Amino acid sequence: MSPLDEAHSASYVGWRIRRGVNPPMAMLAELTHRCPLACPYCSNPTELLGRETELSTEQWVEIFQQAAEIGVLQVHLSGGEPAARRDLVTLVKAARDAGLYTNLITSGIGLTDRRLEELDDAGLDHVQLSLQGVTAAIADRIGGYKGGFDRKMHVADRIRAIGFPLTLNAVMHRENLPDLDATIDMAVRLGARRTEIACVQFQGWALTNRSALQPTRDQVNEAKRIVKAAQERLKGKLVVDFVPPDYYSDYPKACMNGWGSTGLNVTPDGSVMPCHAAATIPNLTFEKAPDRSLGDIWYNSPAFNAYRGTDWMPDQCKSCERRDIDHGGCRCQAMAILNDPDAVDPVCRKSCGRAMLDLLLEAEAEKKERPLYVFRKLKIGSDR
Ligand code: SF4
Ligand code: FES
Repeated sequence: MSPLDEAHSASYVGWRIRRGVNPPMAMLAELTHRCPLACPYCSNPTELLGRETELSTEQWVEIFQQAAEIGVLQVHLSGGEPAARRDLVTLVKAARDAGLYTNLITSGIGLTDRRLEELDDAGLDHVQLSLQGVTAAIADRIGGYKGGFDRKMHVADRIRAIGFPLTLNAVMHRENLPDLDATIDMAVRLGARRTEIACVQFQGWALTNRSALQPTRDQVNEAKRIVKAAQERLKGKLVVDFVPPDYYSDYPKACMNGWGSTGLNVTPDGSVMPCHAAATIPNLTFEKAPDRSLGDIWYNSPAFNAYRGTDWMPDQCKSCERRDIDHGGCRCQAMAILNDPDAVDPVCRKSCGRAMLDLLLEAEAEKKERPLYVFRKLKIGSDR
């Protein structure tokens, strides 16, 4: 470690002791917003970043090294579609060389047989494959990409042949919740060790499509029953994780396990954020890596300290017995529904914003016709 690095490390330790801030454990590296698919439930921002804004290979390599130095253990390589980066194999190798556990979050499109072998040689540890639907007709329509389902099935076969540990990610919503049983069966068939059944989270494009995607209360109750039965039936064979839809809960989720507590996101242009939707909160400014070091941003930047700990909380949360369970919920959700990132999360039964959320759910339940999807759009462009 250089004298400068040592001085930096010492200052992080000092900051940690003063503020009680732990180092981050996980980093979401959004390598690109480009993606061949156009899923309407995408949580990427509606203002997508083009290829010309993306960090270079060298900049990502430096970010991985900085991440490892400040204590990050695992990096989730995501997008958009990370395979749209021609340097993906180099990036995986660099992250592994830095000592990080590497998880690739992908639709599978763009992963040729040869590329998968190269990723294996580069040391890739784990793959999370997204599923848009259980048949080609549904998956290709929701993903807006003809032939995508067949391609994904081929990639899943190759993943199994190589032996990558596989998680199947399925975002569930009003249209595909009737296929939940078949989705879980597919995870078993594809040889996944784990499946994440995540009810759509309303951020980015998904928020634009909220009326079309919002499940009904009956669907949610049925989903909980199916997941519980599957968890018992498949014990020891497949781990079935369930992310319930927030809007029907009594209390909010512990979003990011608390702002600036365990993880950070780096966007394609290097902006470092406490969560993937933080840019929707006005008055927060996000600093860019690698020019400003990740450690400095994590410990010292105003954006990371804005909602850290409990000082920022409204009185209702400060004095609440659930304060250390949900950490005051999700700031981006308070922003999206109440237009106030400082408010009590409107999902919370104790929030005065809950009435507004209930009205919204009632109004959506009464609609006879669902609006058409607004598909995510970004010109693919050529790669760097
Ligand atoms: Fe969570 Fe705040 Fe609601 Fe308590 S009042 S349950 S801390 S959001
Ligand atoms: Fe930003 Fe929850 S997504 S705090």
